[in-house]
Amino acid sequence: MLTNVLVLFSQPLIHVLSMGHKYTTEQKENLYQECLTLIHGLVEEENDLIAGLANVSAVLKDAFHWWWVGFYIVKNDELVLGPFQGPVACTRIAHGKGVCGTAWAKNEVQIVEDVHQFPGHIACSAESNSEIVVPLRKNGKVVAVLDADSERFSSFDETDRLFLEKICATLENLF
Ligand code: SME
Repeated sequence: MLTNVLVLFSQPLIHVLSMGHKYTTEQKENLYQECLTLIHGLVEEENDLIAGLANVSAVLKDAFHWWWVGFYIVKNDELVLGPFQGPVACTRIAHGKGVCGTAWAKNEVQIVEDVHQFPGHIACSAESNSEIVVPLRKNGKVVAVLDADSERFSSFDETDRLFLEKICATLENLF
């Protein structure tokens, strides 16, 4: 299975679409479908949390070339940095703080078109201009968040929400 999904990932579509330009909805949907297939295969092969989240970060970075993409994991009363792809990031985020802490506290996806307008946004990098944060749930309770940051303003929309929620649902069994 792993061999099959790696072959799939090397097919042209993913490379044509990963040039950093603004994707059409159809292009995004096709790319996310490929990511989903790949992630299903990866999670089927390996149920270790860190291994799984690390590879999902890599799949998404490779596909969309976002500035930063990765996970923060709920530990006690804060979010702690997990596997990611991109520059160095802040390691701990309090409940309700920043975009990540807000997604956790509200248990809902946050789409931020311009992070500079988001009250309390935590700027890990000056390059980030828009962001999406998606809660990962285990039995309905938030156990982690997936965070993606883009250098482009308004990079994330309902298509990203839909597919990133599907991806996060796939990861529930890792927890
Ligand atoms: N911007 C996030 C912090 C995490 S970094 O962007 C990687 C926030 O406001 O929660």
